[in-house]
Amino acid sequence: MATQQRISIHGQWSNRLAFILAATGSAVGLGNIWKFPYITGMNGGGAFVLVYLLCILCIGLPLLMAETMLGRRGRQSPINTMAALTAEEGGSPIWAWVGWLGVLAGFLILSYYSVIAGWALAYVFRAASGMFTGLNAEGINTIFATFVSDPERLLAWHSIFMVMTMIVVARGVQAGLEKAVRYMMPSLFIILILLVMYASTTGYFEAGFDFMFTPDFSKLTWEGVLVAMGHAFFTLSLGMGAIMMYGSYLPNGVSIAKTSLVIVSADTTVALLAGMAIFPIVFAHGLEPASGAGLIFKTLPIAFGQMDAGVLIGTLFFVLLVFAAWSSSISLIEPAVAWLVENHGISRVSASVYLGVSSWFLGIASILSFNYWEHIKLHGRTIFDWLDHLTANIMLPLGGLLIALFAGWVVSVKSSYEEMDNGRRGYALWLFLLRIVTPVAVILIFLNVSGLLDWI
Ligand code: PHE
Repeated sequence: MATQQRISIHGQWSNRLAFILAATGSAVGLGNIWKFPYITGMNGGGAFVLVYLLCILCIGLPLLMAETMLGRRGRQSPINTMAALTAEEGGSPIWAWVGWLGVLAGFLILSYYSVIAGWALAYVFRAASGMFTGLNAEGINTIFATFVSDPERLLAWHSIFMVMTMIVVARGVQAGLEKAVRYMMPSLFIILILLVMYASTTGYFEAGFDFMFTPDFSKLTWEGVLVAMGHAFFTLSLGMGAIMMYGSYLPNGVSIAKTSLVIVSADTTVALLAGMAIFPIVFAHGLEPASGAGLIFKTLPIAFGQMDAGVLIGTLFFVLLVFAAWSSSISLIEPAVAWLVENHGISRVSASVYLGVSSWFLGIASILSFNYWEHIKLHGRTIFDWLDHLTANIMLPLGGLLIALFAGWVVSVKSSYEEMDNGRRGYALWLFLLRIVTPVAVILIFLNVSGLLDWI
């Protein structure tokens, strides 16, 4: 039992299931269904997936537990939680900056996350109108190309999604979040299984499966390793305080290890199912696995256009994808909103509006990266690519590294042991992964990618 018993001013989850649902809601999102397949395709498949899975297990799981633990001990927004725990454990005040880094990362991610969620929203109506019926890969590709070349259209959908996010965040944690996720997650799961079943009828299931699970290390670069690691953070919502925030609403006495295992398994299963649904379609239609951010929008509609009840299933799929994105996007600004409420006495409503509107504004740069500004590139990356790279591949791993160091070395063993309650051996393994494995892995990968290791 924890010695201190802070109560969060923002409320508390009603029970363990509510926390699991909310944290899974945060974790499962566009990262699993949109991003995982396309970066797997761009980084050569199997070897990339293997590194990703290793990162999930050795870095993601222990860090998810650490963030939840810190949140529950601190019971405030990540910025204040880090400050409070630092004061309690006697560390340097510098640690509070980890909270700031996270708030910034969440804000930046939301700006482009909402743009892509807008695509999913637009595709709900495209699927429902029967637009995909009978089309071949080329027809589906044209629909996507025409869509992203129209910035006004993208802006409209981006705006709608951002308003949806602001509304839920403004209503607060208990009223807004708990209910939606409960039915959405199982339904998403079922639709993905249906899609995998469809993929198995294309005759290319084996090809897709091989691509994802037969590692060919000659196809993996250090850059790819960085992307795999970054994605482990991104997909589990780690390194920026979202899980720390949700952990702050977690009642005492709930097992952190067990809940974390459930969340990680659900997240990983959804990503792998999405890959298994998409890659057979890619190969069956001679598409390019490395075709980038549009991959799911160029592949899944082919399936919806050909399968029985494709209009219904397609519509439902995109509705659920929007829900998954929605329950993730709210967690991207929740840490910042909670901090504004705590420190500046601003109401939740105003805080949500300030943050949502500024992030919406920044999102316009990502929208233009797919059309008018497509050719504006720095080192081969558009503005959208840069935002994604900076946040997912640099800020989240850096934040995660600092959180691991903090939870592993600054927080006393006595404090973390009483919070973790996963037995002596489980605790020792967790501490080892957090203290040594995570920092070494993140630093080595950073050094390798930056080319610094070649100098030594
Ligand atoms: N985990 C979410 C996804 O996979 C994205 C996210 C990242 C949400 C970081 C919160 C914090 O879509």
